[in-house]
Amino acid sequence: MGSENFIEAAAGFPEPFRLLVCESVESTNDEVRILAQAGAADGLIVLAEHQTAGRGRRGAAWFSPAGESLALSILLRPEEPKALWPRLALAAGLAVAEAVESFGPPAGIKWPNDVWINQRKVAGILVEAGADFAVVGIGLNINTTLFPPEVAEIATSLRIETTQYISRSEVLGEIIRRFARRRIQIGNDFDDLLSAVRLRCVLTGKRVGLVTAKGQMVGTVEGIAAGGELLFRTASGLERLIQADEVRLLAP
Ligand code: BTN
Repeated sequence: MGSENFIEAAAGFPEPFRLLVCESVESTNDEVRILAQAGAADGLIVLAEHQTAGRGRRGAAWFSPAGESLALSILLRPEEPKALWPRLALAAGLAVAEAVESFGPPAGIKWPNDVWINQRKVAGILVEAGADFAVVGIGLNINTTLFPPEVAEIATSLRIETTQYISRSEVLGEIIRRFARRRIQIGNDFDDLLSAVRLRCVLTGKRVGLVTAKGQMVGTVEGIAAGGELLFRTASGLERLIQADEVRLLAP
């Protein structure tokens, strides 16, 4: 179930999105960064059938078997001030969750932008910024049924959750249509974007252990603040976290 008609799907993308399909690259985020530095315009999407060095957040490897998943990166040259660019991660996570849900299973967001189905990760997003551009990298497990041991306990795919083969090009179209709408909201309708993220936040009300620049913390998530930060109650008070690593749900 390898090659699909991504080019046909791309004909239905909203402006300014357009697609470049590669057979094999190290990382689509790197390809897009190189093209951005060479002057490529906003909206270019690089999709790879195979990544030899796909990476996740914190430098972790990203597993995306050829023909079974989506691995793509989107070049953005946002008009919004750079201070608002972290919101792109929320916009992308939400767009992917909405796209996933259009195929059936309810999709949650594990702040800031992991997409979960039934408490397992189905998609991850890696946003990297250059001087005047941002790269939004999206990895989504679609028809994978076997994961490597290191992620087997925490990963899932659309196929596992729906018990059906899912067309990757249709999922791609859903993601891009939704992201086209959500990305605009980082500057002019962030409240609407945030409300939709809050409704899907799988951490709210949960006891969580996480790692930040200040070290390890344990506490309860109270929600997401007006700027998109995680509101996190610890024994010493309420923290507003812009960024956190290794967010783990703990037993209540
Ligand atoms: C994470 O959850 O840690 C983020 C995973 C992001 C993976 C995608 S796959 C396409 C793009 N290219 C990469 O090398 N990484 C992102």
